[in-house]
Amino acid sequence: VAEDAADEVGVLSRAFNRMTHQLSTQRDDLMGANRELDERRRFTETVLAGVSAGVIGLDRRGRIHLPNRSASELVGRPLEEAVGRDLREVLPELAESLDEVVRRPDRLVQHEIRLATPNGRSRTLLVRAAAEHLDGEIIGFVVTFDDITELVSAQRKAAWADVARRIAHEIKNPLTPIQLSAERLKRKYLKEIQSDPETYVALIETIVRQVGDIGRMVDEFSSFARMPAPQMKPDDLADICRQALFLQRTGSPEVEFASLIPDHKVPVVCDGRLVGQALTNLLKNAIEGIQGRENPDAGRGRITLSLTEHSERLVVEIIDNGRGLPQENRERLTEPYVTTRAKGTGLGLAIVKKIMEDHAGDLYLEDAPGGGAKVSLIFPIAEPPPLQPSAETTVSHGV
Ligand SMILES: Nc1ncnc2c1ncn2[C@@H]1O[C@H](COP(=O)(O)OP(=O)(O)OP(=O)(O)O)[C@@H](O)[C@H]1O
Ligand SMILES: [Mg+2]
Repeated sequence: VAEDAADEVGVLSRAFNRMTHQLSTQRDDLMGANRELDERRRFTETVLAGVSAGVIGLDRRGRIHLPNRSASELVGRPLEEAVGRDLREVLPELAESLDEVVRRPDRLVQHEIRLATPNGRSRTLLVRAAAEHLDGEIIGFVVTFDDITELVSAQRKAAWADVARRIAHEIKNPLTPIQLSAERLKRKYLKEIQSDPETYVALIETIVRQVGDIGRMVDEFSSFARMPAPQMKPDDLADICRQALFLQRTGSPEVEFASLIPDHKVPVVCDGRLVGQALTNLLKNAIEGIQGRENPDAGRGRITLSLTEHSERLVVEIIDNGRGLPQENRERLTEPYVTTRAKGTGLGLAIVKKIMEDHAGDLYLEDAPGGGAKVSLIFPIAEPPPLQPSAETTVSHGV
């Protein structure tokens, strides 16, 4: 608007122009602030989507308002579908953390929780909950969590491995002098023994033999702590299964053994000795599961070992009709020294797990239909390695 008139119209025009100018700067400022907000929001969302930790934003009543992708993955449920619902209802496992931070909003609450995911595995999560404040008022809560399952299990394993190694070391130390002394007694003083030299020899041999047994036992005891490196070779899994079964069958005639093993060779690259050891441990567990049944007249104990070939893996299943796996702490059964048997050491499954890890395979513990336990070993079938120039290093398949 032209401003040159000196009258009221001129004053008005100048005021008007000033106002439009101010309005336009204010609009620009607003748009700029908005853009900045938008950029920040996008940045936050990108960060939230990119982090491996689970993050759930809650309103001040504890209703889910912004879950990130990792949160859904870690709890094994699509949380975006639960937006608007109370976290305590959707994930009761997190209720305690939330309740605590509601009670004490000035603190960062931290808990370790166990969470069963829909695929039957359980995870250990480190959960942190904090209140979100704005001008001294609580406007919501943020719950974050990390998957520390592997970490916890690795820590426990490392601790036990260390203890086992030390105990084994301390026990083995005096064994060699005991053995040498006994042998010397025999060599040096046998001729001086007048009465009953046969008994003298027998006693000394008992000492030597028993000391040898203790040494081997200790070796086994610490074997999971420093298991021998597996010697991978082409082998026949069907044969390994048959041999393991044969050993236990002879030892436990009261149990009925069934085998569903292909008649042909089932090629696998593995350490046959270790895999045999794993199968023996599992079969022994199955036998002990049958012996531990509450109702001893529950029909004949039965163990079925089956080997099936799939396109990418081989599956060995051992099913028994024994007492079944304990419900409690099931995911800890593969940890060293976890046992429910009075005479068990709890190393059996820990060794099996280690052996399967060495073979890049898996171990599953499940309930068998109709009670009893079902334990599966999964062996991946490796891609045939690229042909090597030397025939010795070429791993043959299909033999
Ligand atoms: N087939 C099974 N049926 C029932 N429970 C089982 C079976 N296999 C394993 N378990 C449970 O898992 C626990 C751990 O097994 P693991 O083989 O590691 O140790 P253990 O058998 O107790 O002792 P050991 O070191 O002598 O093998 C057992 O104590 C038992 O509670
Ligand atoms: Mg066992």
